[in-house]
Amino acid sequence: MFIINVILCTLVVHNVGGDTFPESFAFGVSSAAYVTEGAWDAEGKGASIWDEFTKINENIKGGGDGKKAADGYNKIKEDVQRLKALGVSHYKFSLSWPRLLPDGTKSSVNEAGFRHYDILIDELLAKNITPFVSLYHWDLPQALQDQGGWANSSSVTWFKDYANLCFQRFGNRVKLWTTIEDPLSITYKGYETGEHAPGLKQPGLVYTVGHHLLLAHVEVYLLYKTSFKAAQNGQVGLSVRFDWFYPDTTSVDGDEAAMRSIAFRIGWFLDPLYHGDYPSLMKEKVALKRTALGFPDQKLPQFTPEEKVKIVGANDFIGVIHFKSRIVSHQYNNSTVPGYYNDQDVVLSINTTLPKLEYRPELNPQSSRRLDREGLTEVLMYLKSFYNTPAIYVTQNGLATCGTLKDQHRIEYIREYTTSLLDAIRYGSDVRGYFLWSLLDGFDWDKGYASKTGLYYVNFDRDDRPRYPRSSVEFYRSLISNRGLTEDLKSYRAYPSDRDEFYYGKFPDHFQWGVATAAYQIEGAWNEDGKGPSIWDTFAHNGKLANGQTGDVACDSYHLYKVDVQMLGDLGVNIYRFSIAWSRVMPDGTVRSLNQKGVDYYNNLIDALLAKNITPMITLYHWDLPQALEDRGGWRSDSIVSWFEDYARVCFEQFGDRVKHWITFNEAFVISWLGYGIGVFAPGVYDPGAGVYKAAHNIIRSHSRAYHMYKSNFKGKYGGSVGITLDIEWKEPLTDSVDDSLAADRAIQFKLGWFGNAIFGGSGDYPEVMKQYVAEKSRRQGFNSSRLPEFTQEEKSLNKGAYDFLGMNHYTSTLVSNQPRPDSQPSYEQDQDINTMADPCWPSTSADWLKVNPWGIRYILRWAKQHFNNPPIYITESGRPSVEGLDDPDRIYYYKYYINEMLKAIRLDNVDVRGYTAWSLMDNLEWTSGYSPRFGLYHVDFTSPNRTRIPRKSALFFSQLIRENGFTRS
Ligand SMILES: *[C@@H]1O[C@H](CO)[C@@H](O)[C@H](O)[C@H]1NC(C)=O
Ligand SMILES: *[C@@H]1O[C@H](CO)[C@@H](O)[C@H](O)[C@H]1NC(C)=O
Ligand SMILES: *[C@@H]1O[C@H](CO)[C@@H](O)[C@H](O)[C@H]1NC(C)=O
Repeated sequence: MFIINVILCTLVVHNVGGDTFPESFAFGVSSAAYVTEGAWDAEGKGASIWDEFTKINENIKGGGDGKKAADGYNKIKEDVQRLKALGVSHYKFSLSWPRLLPDGTKSSVNEAGFRHYDILIDELLAKNITPFVSLYHWDLPQALQDQGGWANSSSVTWFKDYANLCFQRFGNRVKLWTTIEDPLSITYKGYETGEHAPGLKQPGLVYTVGHHLLLAHVEVYLLYKTSFKAAQNGQVGLSVRFDWFYPDTTSVDGDEAAMRSIAFRIGWFLDPLYHGDYPSLMKEKVALKRTALGFPDQKLPQFTPEEKVKIVGANDFIGVIHFKSRIVSHQYNNSTVPGYYNDQDVVLSINTTLPKLEYRPELNPQSSRRLDREGLTEVLMYLKSFYNTPAIYVTQNGLATCGTLKDQHRIEYIREYTTSLLDAIRYGSDVRGYFLWSLLDGFDWDKGYASKTGLYYVNFDRDDRPRYPRSSVEFYRSLISNRGLTEDLKSYRAYPSDRDEFYYGKFPDHFQWGVATAAYQIEGAWNEDGKGPSIWDTFAHNGKLANGQTGDVACDSYHLYKVDVQMLGDLGVNIYRFSIAWSRVMPDGTVRSLNQKGVDYYNNLIDALLAKNITPMITLYHWDLPQALEDRGGWRSDSIVSWFEDYARVCFEQFGDRVKHWITFNEAFVISWLGYGIGVFAPGVYDPGAGVYKAAHNIIRSHSRAYHMYKSNFKGKYGGSVGITLDIEWKEPLTDSVDDSLAADRAIQFKLGWFGNAIFGGSGDYPEVMKQYVAEKSRRQGFNSSRLPEFTQEEKSLNKGAYDFLGMNHYTSTLVSNQPRPDSQPSYEQDQDINTMADPCWPSTSADWLKVNPWGIRYILRWAKQHFNNPPIYITESGRPSVEGLDDPDRIYYYKYYINEMLKAIRLDNVDVRGYTAWSLMDNLEWTSGYSPRFGLYHVDFTSPNRTRIPRKSALFFSQLIRENGFTRS
């Protein structure tokens, strides 16, 4: 027998060259009912112990339950279509016992449940996919738990009755069965640690429960063998969890400890089936421990002589669940509590020299996710030698991640583990199939929805539970179709390898470092010294800001600007970006109302900055339009182009001798969309289909006029530069599909390109794609012309090249997918046919729109370089909120990694970035969110009349970065 096997294997290896899997090898994915199905009480289903267990929120990391899960119950057709596209030959899933037998016994047959699995099985077979069915994957009917569950010896009969029905109903079509998935977790986590349902902490029960599970398996195996096998010709196996255990070579008795770990985990369930009894290592250890604790009679349950005969050989194949490896050391456990874990005298640890499988390893220095591909080969070779070359299916192997869509680590994991499988085949293991866990994200037991194991990402925030392929889908599909790793697959990457690498190096010598603020957010003195009201004064006084807060006092910088300048000096910045409040200089918005005291304030500030060698960078318009001008139509009125030109001229005249950097507008998108589209910002106008485009149109025209006015009248004598600041996230395609790539690019064009294309793009006009989309939508909506206004030829030539630099505010990234939107409502948002969301791996902040994704800044800088003719760029805002307090490691992380990615854009991609002004110098009024989001390098005490400012740790970090002008390895 042994020799024949060796010869066969040699032939196989010879035939396939050792690099590909045999034709007969089964490739599949696996899942479990409770993880995927949802429909927890649909059509007569009874409650399972997991339905009960998840009622207690604390049992689940992050809360949640499987009531809906991935809604697999209602999505059979589309999910089987996904399996088909993936090219799997097999699909492994589990039957929900309480769906079939609501009270667990054969007296409560639920026909709807049987119909459900009939449909699934037939759908699979119709697509030529072999169903591989688990009878029990942890979801015991609660009604049986009420009678003691697996601790009750009747559980053996309950399970046998249930299996009998399943074989009767499905056995004509299902040829591969596992009885029980992972008995170790069922008993240890269910009855000793309480991490799993039923959540009991009764260590004394663990071996009894294990005994019943084993006997239940044997009874079902024999039932099949005697009553079904002849007609149905299928196979029945047990799935055991077999992580590999490396002996700790540095500890005494490490080898024995590893043997013991294996005996307690694997031997416990497999030795009886292959050798007729529990492993002696385990029996002896448990007996010794009980004697030491003073309960000499408590041992492992024993098999009767008849049972011993019966159990040997009661398994057609071994299902192997393998996820990871651990190092085992010997450590005497002197706990007086009897229990499975304490009995073993071992400690498990992570081999920290193995590579981490983390989205951003620096965020998880102690990560337990490590790549060890040899472990699986070890497992398979161990099974071969200890159980006489059994047939094996690897029924679960996969990586749980935080869920990123471009899941490079899952690809690496699959690559290494399939290589490991090939090695085992070459060494003679009779492994016949590999099932990746899992097809879809689901409810990952006690780890809830935060642990993502799917090839497909499932959006659990949406009721329709849409699925999107991760990068690993294409990788695994290709691996299956090639029956192994081609050269392409060996080097396959979901994204470039330098994306997340930290870069050591310096910024250019004259790089400008600074911080940014805005008038309404810091100045206060809203009606002092002749200042007129702005639209934000009105908006705030109408109670539109969080907690009824206002900018009436804010940081009181109108009175405390000297303190601000002192702080800037302490930080060591070269440049300070602040804005002028239009209505402080011109209370009614027009030249007629010029207010000398307002002019004086900015003169004083500018002079104080220059005295400290700090270059002022002024934003002319940071959202606070004089209310008097809004009353005359605001940004929707064509007159505003000359109002703005007059205002800009006054500023250039008054301050231009000392100010060399001018920004016409801050975040033209926000002014247009939030102010005049959805109206959540001042002036609160709701006009999402037309007003929004009109406001934007006038902003661009105003910018271009002001730019040319400066160029003709001031540039000669003052030599300054004029730019515009646009806010833009990096927009990453959600999936690798062409549609999503186009959608992401379209989204950037609709936001950055909306304003930037006319000025920087070369045509003087809106982006082509934007013109097309808005025109087409408008046409379908019955408009005579596009809702997007048109520039005259003259305007286009004014727009074209109307810049000395591009200012970019960049905070975050989003994922964009193609999503046709209904025509029903004319809206800038609907016009784009996109959907956006955040990558689940990006750390979140207290601002729901702001997720931390460092490499996004590099990618958007590259985009701007390519599409905007390589302009000089300043990052004019970037930052994140933190909690109150001075210790802000999250902000330090943000600046460190974002600024590093900006350095990569400069050094690796030759983007012409000239400066960076961090948002923000100090905590301030965060518009409608009020004072609670704290973006400051300095903390501000808003309860003190002095608005006391204190530097945070991030301020120290930032000033050190400025001094070093880069990152050195030390
Ligand atoms: C158990 O072991 C720990 C550490 O090995 C030791 O500190 C403790 O004193 C021991 N307790 C008993 C009751 O022996
Ligand atoms: C840990 O992994 C490294 C390979 O990265 C290996 O050389 C070492 O032997 C491993 N240690 C143990 C105890 O298995
Ligand atoms: C505010 O500042 C003044 C002057 O520096 C000082 O005398 C006073 O104690 C401060 N008040 C508070 C509450 O910090």
